[in-house]
Amino acid sequence: MARLIVISNRVSAPSKDGGAQGGLAVALTAALREADGIWFGWSGETSASRELRFTTFDGVTSGVVDLSEQDVEEYYDGYANRTLWPLFHYFLSLAEFERDFQGGYERVNRFFADVIDPHLRDDDLIWVHDYHLIPLGWLLRQHGRTNRIGFFLHIPWPPTNLLVALPDHQRLVDSLFAYDVVGFQTQESLDSFRHYVETQMAGSFDADGHVTVGGRTMCAIACPIGVDAEPFMAAAASEEARTVRERVIYGGAGRQLIVGVDRLDYSKGLEERFAGYERFLQSYADRRALVYLLQIAPPSRTSVQSYRDIRASLDAMSGRINGEYADVDWTPIRYVNQGYPRAMLAGIYRAARIGLVTPLRDGMNLVAKEYVAAQNPEDPGVLILSRFAGAAQQLTDAILINPYSADEIADAIDEALRMPRAERKRRWERLIDNVVREDVQWWRRRFTEALAGTDTLVDA
Ligand code: G6P
Repeated sequence: MARLIVISNRVSAPSKDGGAQGGLAVALTAALREADGIWFGWSGETSASRELRFTTFDGVTSGVVDLSEQDVEEYYDGYANRTLWPLFHYFLSLAEFERDFQGGYERVNRFFADVIDPHLRDDDLIWVHDYHLIPLGWLLRQHGRTNRIGFFLHIPWPPTNLLVALPDHQRLVDSLFAYDVVGFQTQESLDSFRHYVETQMAGSFDADGHVTVGGRTMCAIACPIGVDAEPFMAAAASEEARTVRERVIYGGAGRQLIVGVDRLDYSKGLEERFAGYERFLQSYADRRALVYLLQIAPPSRTSVQSYRDIRASLDAMSGRINGEYADVDWTPIRYVNQGYPRAMLAGIYRAARIGLVTPLRDGMNLVAKEYVAAQNPEDPGVLILSRFAGAAQQLTDAILINPYSADEIADAIDEALRMPRAERKRRWERLIDNVVREDVQWWRRRFTEALAGTDTLVDA
């Protein structure tokens, strides 16, 4: 059996002192363990060392390398998080285009290819992840690698008329043709990619998803990522989750909990969410004291200014809304800037009557799926979900809203609070069916089968 090699910027292989892994990490870890693989990437640290450090823990080997401070500034903070992230999430006005960022991005990708290549075997299946490493496959080909190499983009692929604002966009997209398989989260992203290929590269797609440009062919698929649904359902029913749930219910003093959990990122629509919740407090004044919003938002990418700005704005909004509406025994928003372990989150989701997931743009959004997985089947809560999250293409039985509209968010909160149990159950049964069927193992198998060329499932 061929080994599986995973390469991503962040490595979350199990480690002696590491915390709990997220669903994606659990799925990749299981695949790596089965296929005797290695997970390569950045250590998250800076130093002048250029050596890969290997560790094996719990049956999984990882190989990580430090970057220089300049590398982190130009590649991670710069091109990845100040250029590609905003542009690919449709925030053209936040995207910064600097030659130094692009230079750093290419330099670090080349460095990854140089240090990883000597550790590869000719029959390894190589799976590269996300926007930090788009050119890596092409750079491995420059080392003479003829392996099957796949790429999965976890974030949206933007429409052509946004992507062409990126200087050298042709070069970046062209490098994708070094892969055998390129996976996107949704059909919408795949359609945008197809539009780019047809209009900017004079390429063509066939009915099996094979894309040909100038004599080079690869396979492009839509392959939505899922969560580790059954373990998460079990976590939500565990003793630890029950204890948290009781704490939350006690703290809520009989009020209905609305929960949001997001990295503190402008793409998550947190300002718009607070504005929508405020509109609910205004428009449904008779019922406002019956609910409260718990927003969990651990800070992220704090060296990037736009992330500091969104944090300052949310501090101000939550303070203002609480100042305006709170009463001696009620605070409308509990705003928490720390993360929680997954079993605790599962308990919090289960305690919540409403899961409020309102990104302005999101590749998938796994919080929406975890919220569904955590519900009590006999008395499930209601998911309110942005139409602009990839998850909305599968979770069509959520209340789908336009996150830019405060009125739609307010009305959806009202509808969810009034929704009879029978309808909540009916919607939830359809949602959980999808979350369990298209879980993270399904996603991983589907992609790796396409990569190994053994799939029967490739969509156009
Ligand atoms: C998104 C990206 C991931 C990234 C994660 C956390 O989900 O698709 O590639 O790892 O955000 O962001 P960070 O910058 O902390 O790695």
